Formats: sequence, C-alpha cells, structure tokens
Amino acid sequence: MVTYAGRVTDSDEYQIRRFRAGLQDGTVSPETEAWLQAVNRGFHEQAFTPKTLRREAEFIRADDRLMTGVYVDATPVHSVGAEVPVATFTTYTSTLSTGETLLPAHLISDVTVRPTHRRRGLLRRMMTESLTAARDAGLPIAALTASEATIYGRFGFGVATQTSTIELDTTSRFALPSLDRGAVGTVELARREAIAEVAGDIFARFHAATRGSVGRQASYPARIDGTINGHADEPDLTVRAALHYDADGTPDGCVTYQHVESRDAVSEVKVIDLVATGPDSYLGLWNFVGNLDLIQRVRYDAARIDDPLPWAMADTRGYRVTGRDDRLWLRILDPLTCLQSRRWSGDGELSLAVEDPLGLAAGTFDLGVSGGVPSVQQTAAAPRPDADVTVDVASLGSAFLGGATIGALADAGRIRGGGTAVAQLSRMFAVDRAPYCITHF
Ligand SMILES: CC(C)(COP(=O)(O)OP(=O)(O)OC[C@H]1O[C@@H](n2cnc3c(N)ncnc32)[C@H](O)[C@@H]1OP(=O)(O)O)[C@@H](O)C(=O)NCCC(=O)NCCS
Repeated sequence: MVTYAGRVTDSDEYQIRRFRAGLQDGTVSPETEAWLQAVNRGFHEQAFTPKTLRREAEFIRADDRLMTGVYVDATPVHSVGAEVPVATFTTYTSTLSTGETLLPAHLISDVTVRPTHRRRGLLRRMMTESLTAARDAGLPIAALTASEATIYGRFGFGVATQTSTIELDTTSRFALPSLDRGAVGTVELARREAIAEVAGDIFARFHAATRGSVGRQASYPARIDGTINGHADEPDLTVRAALHYDADGTPDGCVTYQHVESRDAVSEVKVIDLVATGPDSYLGLWNFVGNLDLIQRVRYDAARIDDPLPWAMADTRGYRVTGRDDRLWLRILDPLTCLQSRRWSGDGELSLAVEDPLGLAAGTFDLGVSGGVPSVQQTAAAPRPDADVTVDVASLGSAFLGGATIGALADAGRIRGGGTAVAQLSRMFAVDRAPYCITHF
C-alpha cells in the first residue's frame, strides 16, 4: 500500500506506465490508441476515426508529451480490456510569459479517471508524482486549465488568469472612432490555409509580450482554422480568416471566425481565435469583425478582462460581458526563480513565508526591490512563523502575475501579515494590466 498525504492507493491493484506516443509509418501503436480512446471517454467525446486518431497521435508526438496511463491486471469478461488505462494524464514542457521573460513551464493535460475507479486517489497519485518529478527536474512552475474549479486548489494550483465572454452589437451602433486617430495597418480576408503559415509567428510575438500567455501546442493552427472539426475527418469549411498587416505589409494579427446559428434568430458570428501583436492590429481586427455585413452580433469567449475594446467604441453599451471564466491555473514549484522572473513595481523589503501542503515549494524568502530590480533570497526551508507575510502556494500562484491582487487575497483570508506588510507587498506586486492567456490545453 502506498499512502499519498492521507489517501491510500493499492499499488498491487494499479500499475502506472509512462510512454511517448507510438507512431510508426503512419500507424498508431495499440498502447497509444487505447490511451487516446480512454481520454475521449473521460471527456464524453466521440471515438476517434483512423484519420483523427493518427492526427492526434502526431500532435502528441510533436509536443513531445509524456503520457501516463494507470492500468489494472485484468478486467471482467465483456468489459473494456485491461489494455485500456483506467486513468490518463499527460505532461510536456512549454513556456509561460511573465511579460519580461519566458519561464519553462510543466503543462498538465488529458487528466481522466474512469468513473468505476474514481475517488481512490488515482488523480492525487499521478499529480503528486508528476509535480515532484517536475520540481526535481528544475521546472519552476506547473500550469493547467481546469474542467471544474474545485479539483486543483488542493494540489497548490491557483487561478492566475481569467477571460470574459463578450457579445458585441454590430448593427449600426458599432463604430471605433479611435481608429481614425492614427492607427496604422490594413485588414484583408485570408485563405483559411494561410493560418497554418502565419499564425505561429504572430502568436510568438503576442506570447513574448503578454504576461500570462502560455506557448501553444502543435495542434493549435489546426484547432483554429477548422482542420480539427470535432471528430469529423474533413475540415469545417465554414471557418473564415482575416489578417492585419502592419505599415510594411507584414502580418501582425489574425482572426478566425464562423457564422453560427443563434438561439434567438439574431445573425451571429463567433470569433474562434484572435491574436494581435499590438493595439493597432487589435482594434483593426475588431473593426473588421464588427463591420461584417448581414451580422448583428459577434461573440467571443476569450476576451481580456481589462479589454480596451469598449473604451475604443463610440457606444460602449454595444459591448456586453456575459460571463467570466478562469483560464490558466498556476502551481509554483520554485518560488525563488518565479519571484525573480516577474516585474516588480514598488520598492520595499519584507520576508515572505510560503506554505505548501505538498511540501514542494515551502520556505521563507527575503524579498527586496530597489528601483524595480528584485533581489530574492531563500532564508529557510520551511515557512517561518515570524515572517512579515504568509501565503499559501495556490494564492501565490494567483498573485504571481497579478491575476489576483494582494489586497483581495488578504481580504479573502488567504494572505496574512502584520502591520503594513500586506499593503507594502501589494505595492511591490502591483501590475499595470491583468495577465492574459489565450491558450487552452
Ligand atoms: C476529476 C477526476 C480526474 C478526479 O480523479 P480521482 O481519481 O477520482 O481523484 P482522487 O481520488 O485522486 O481525488 C483527489 C482529491 O480530489 C478531490 N476531487 C476529485 N475530483 C473532484 C471534483 N470533480 N470536484 C471536487 N473535488 C474532487 C477528491 O475528493 C480528493 O480530495 P482529497 O484528497 O482532498 O480528499 C475524475 O473525476 C475525472 O476523470 N473526471 C472527468 C474528467 C475531468 O474533469 N478531468 C479533469 C480535466 S481538467
């Protein structure tokens, strides 16, 4: 029996195997196929066809993902065979942008546990082992996007970025007068196939400059240009694309979109993906989408929570926020590296104790900022009770890039400190814009 922080997993009943996607001459290995079909079942998706299975295996290979499967020795007659894992988990290394630098990040995805094996500690076991291995390999931070908000806090993940779902009224109310005040560039319809050629370069520029952005996986061009069309073999040809060009004619922004059936008979377009490298390309692309003929409404589910768009509109009431969701969850593994890599705004000095239920990132740190330049040192391997400020590791993940303010976390009871220490940390951590992530993984 193996115990994981109070939960017991019978190690004789379950075997964990880790492997890379098996793909030889276009043939997916049986182990990889069984694993991919298990992921599909976990997310209630349709089974792969031979073509979509091969494509998925190629993407997983291109990301160099480490696939984890949990297996049982035998299964009853007529049931799914023992070659199909009862739990799945993948990890791969990508980058997280702090706006200053790209931090190597341990990305976690495809987390499923079969309903007949749930709540026996399998997720806890896969997660604990994976985070420990990542920390031991020197990766400073782990990241995921979550199907439910109640699962990952216990493993030290905190919500780090959020996005809004917005609806734009694009009838005659829509106008962007600020575009006439010197915005540079043009927009043109693009061939759908062009997205695969240019989207990577445009995203790379956005990624480097945008605090909270996560590097995209190999499947992204196919996800945004309609090539991946549910589990159909053929692409979704209703997807359209447009590019924004800078003054030199270089693409510096792209949008993909499609006309959709709305519930209330309003003619509607859904923006699938919009990547802009600066304010001119951002407003230029929205001006294009907002002026599509025959369209009365545009919907987008990944807008910045501090979106400049309504501030550029003549009629701000034509912009409605209909929802807000957590996007990126961060789990700090190495506080020293993370704290040194972020931008600091206010000068000051204080000690910070980090609590961690898994013990991976716990410690006490001296933070000093002078002229915006940080100096961070670890002074103890455990959180010291006499530190100026104490924070749990999940809250530090939320505060790291400015997604949650120190003040809000303190009022929520998640950061504690005496005297003026919390207010001082708040000034030191302050950021000018909310972090933003448009990568789903
Ligand atoms: C979510 C899921 C992976 C959990 O797997 P599991 O093996 O049952 O989880 P564990 O038994 O290891 O539970 C670990 C802890 O998480 C909690 N937990 C697990 N799933 C939870 C959920 N959906 N909501 C709230 N808490 C949850 C357990 O109660 C347990 O808490 P404790 O250790 O603090 O007592 C599994 O239910 C599943 O596959 N769901 C469908 C697919 C999905 O949503 N995947 C996540 C994608 S981001």
